[in-house]
Order: sequence, then C-alpha cells, then structure tokens
Amino acid sequence: MTQGIFYGVGVGPGDPELLTLKAVRLIQSADLLCYLCNEAGESQAKTIARLALVQLNPSQRELPLPVPMSLQREAANDVYDRGAEQIAAALQAGQQVVFLCEGDPLFFGSFSYLLERLQGEFECRAVAGVSSPQAAAAALCLPLTQQSQSLAVVSGVQSDEALLEALENHDSVVILKAVQRQRILGLLRQSGRFEQAVYLERIGREDQRIVRNLHRLEAGAGIYFSLFVVRR
Ligand SMILES: C[S@@+](CC[C@H](N)C(=O)[O-])C[C@H]1O[C@@H](n2cnc3c(N)ncnc32)[C@H](O)[C@@H]1O
Repeated sequence: MTQGIFYGVGVGPGDPELLTLKAVRLIQSADLLCYLCNEAGESQAKTIARLALVQLNPSQRELPLPVPMSLQREAANDVYDRGAEQIAAALQAGQQVVFLCEGDPLFFGSFSYLLERLQGEFECRAVAGVSSPQAAAAALCLPLTQQSQSLAVVSGVQSDEALLEALENHDSVVILKAVQRQRILGLLRQSGRFEQAVYLERIGREDQRIVRNLHRLEAGAGIYFSLFVVRR
C-alpha cells in the first residue's frame, strides 16, 4: 500500500482569515487532523483554523496531542514520541495526516519535533504560514526592514548578553517569547532602544493588544503569546 504524506500546515498567528488556500484544502481533505492542545483539550492552532474546519471530510479523524505549556522537555518528548507513533500508523495505512501549527510550521514550530521523528521514514511536507513577526509588522503597518537594514529575531529566553548583542548590532529586532517582560524592558533601556520598542500580545486574535508607549506597560510578566518589535 502507498504510504500517506505527513503535512505540517501553518495556520498563521491568530486571524482565521490568514490561512493560505493550500492550508484550507489540505485541512479539509486530511484523513487525520493532528494538533497540540492543553490539558483541557483546547488547541490554539485548531481555534485559529476554525473557518477551515466548517467543511470537514466526514470520515476525518482527529488526534489531539496534550502538551501542557509547563511540561519539562522530557515529558514533552514522551508526548511527541507517542504522537509520532500514532501518525506513523496512519501514514503506513495510506492516510494523509495534517498537523496544524500556529504561525509557520518551521519557524519555532512544534512541527519540527514530529518532523525529526518521522522524516526519513515517511514523505513529509510543510505549508508555510504567516509567522508572528510578519503579523506584528502588519498589525503596526510598519516595515520591519528596508534596503540594507538587518533584522534579528531572538527568543526572549536568551541570555542578557545575547539580547544586548542583537539590540546593539541590528536595525530591527523582534523579541519572541517575551514572558520575562521586566528583564527585557531593562535590557531595552540598557541598550538605549526602549523608546523604539513596541509590545504586542495575541496578534490577530479578538483580544489583541498593542502598547506603543512602553512607559504605560504595567509591571509583571508577559503572556506567552507576546513579543516586542524594535525598529530604528
Ligand atoms: C513557539 S513560538 C511559535 C512561533 C510561530 N510558529 C510563528 O510562526 O510565529 C511562540 C512565540 O511566538 C510568538 N507568537 C506567536 N503567535 C503570536 C501572536 N498571535 N501574538 C504575539 N506573539 C505571538 C510569541 O512570542 C510566542 O512566545
């Protein structure tokens, strides 16, 4: 029997209209729809893809993979191991499997953890999605870069030194995973780029929030779906 194909499909950062036509077609025709969810079964990626889920293939099955955000790497690896086994069984049975991935599947995407377990043995393909830095630029209607300018995308969990290095050496910097918000604000001050930075939360979702004046940002940790855009 011909094996099925494993697709990592980007669903964009939150706006349900930001899925590509290809993403919608693959979601609607998949035999098995797979996605990460929390312990309550809620899935960011599935929620974002809700408009595409209206017309589902009636025989389609779902495979939610519960990965609570607080999980240690080892426990998360167990979830990906078991998920990959179930996906492999479906692929061996000739089924098309679509993994819904928030944003772009290959940009800090959870798809990569399944890919490293399945690529080589099965045909794997990715469908690009709109990633959060692009969505942030669109939400601000601000060019991220122009002409010969440089752009760095860094994770907010990087060391002080790594974040300062990016802020010192690049015209534009996007800081993802801005949970350690107070530390990042301190580094923005230290680098002299505090006034150039904008904070965004839940871009493209109903409760999207944009704070252009960081003096108005309340004290405390940021949420997981938050980032800073710093632009010269
Ligand atoms: C594991 S990465 C996933 C990135 C995603 N694959 C993408 O293409 O943007 C998660 C980080 O992306 C950023 N992010 C993703 N979606 C976001 C959104 N809707 N609003 C703000 N930040 C977002 C946050 O910084 C979050 O901590």
